[in-house]
Amino acid sequence: MQNSNALKQAAGEAAIDRYVRDGMCIGLGTGTTAYYAIRRVGELVAAGAAITAVPSSLATEALCRKAAIPITGLLDRPIAVAIDGADEVSPDFALTKGGGGALFREKCVALAAEQFIVIVDESKLVPHLGAFATPVEVVPFALDWVVREISAAFPEVTIRRRGGETPFVTDNGNALLDCGFGAIDDPAELEAELRAIHGVVDAGLFNNLTDTVLVAQPGGVRELVRTSTTGARN
Ligand code: 5RP
Repeated sequence: MQNSNALKQAAGEAAIDRYVRDGMCIGLGTGTTAYYAIRRVGELVAAGAAITAVPSSLATEALCRKAAIPITGLLDRPIAVAIDGADEVSPDFALTKGGGGALFREKCVALAAEQFIVIVDESKLVPHLGAFATPVEVVPFALDWVVREISAAFPEVTIRRRGGETPFVTDNGNALLDCGFGAIDDPAELEAELRAIHGVVDAGLFNNLTDTVLVAQPGGVRELVRTSTTGARN
């Protein structure tokens, strides 16, 4: 049985080996699975490949710089493919993201890319989203208001902290809530409801964005490809 890191590594490296070619501009995600994809891109660049990346967080930007991967802005060049991890993947390819707090920029990169590839180990496949608390990015001034609005219907709302009392601050200078909604029947409807609350910047629900999911499991990396029944790409 492979351990979780080995599975993350297998998914991250498979995404680069299968989908990234010399000359491409690619989006690079955030987190412990994306780390292995970034590392693989660094190896290709070191071997002479002309790959440019749009990082989805300051942490990923730092990893790219360390690996000498050239960085560019969101719309400077067409992004052929964006590769990122996820906290949950539902059967219709909806995602929970933002465990690492990078949901807003991750969604920017996924939206801008021609193809969005999600890399996970099999533990992330779920029958429906919601066991993982949904991250919600909030303008700090509006934090109490947003907490009141969400917790009126769903009491499990927690302000994310960076250990102790210090509130977590996103790369965009915002606060983060982690919200327990229970099993989410309609992630698109919930995303729209959350984004309609004044002060909410984004929710870590990714709907109709995923093209392909690479699932690492003992024995290999399985590829799930979007079909007409698993939702349309925006
Ligand atoms: C960060 C994310 C990550 O992609 C998600 O949390 C998965 O991370 P990991 O691969 O470390 O489990 O959305 O904001």
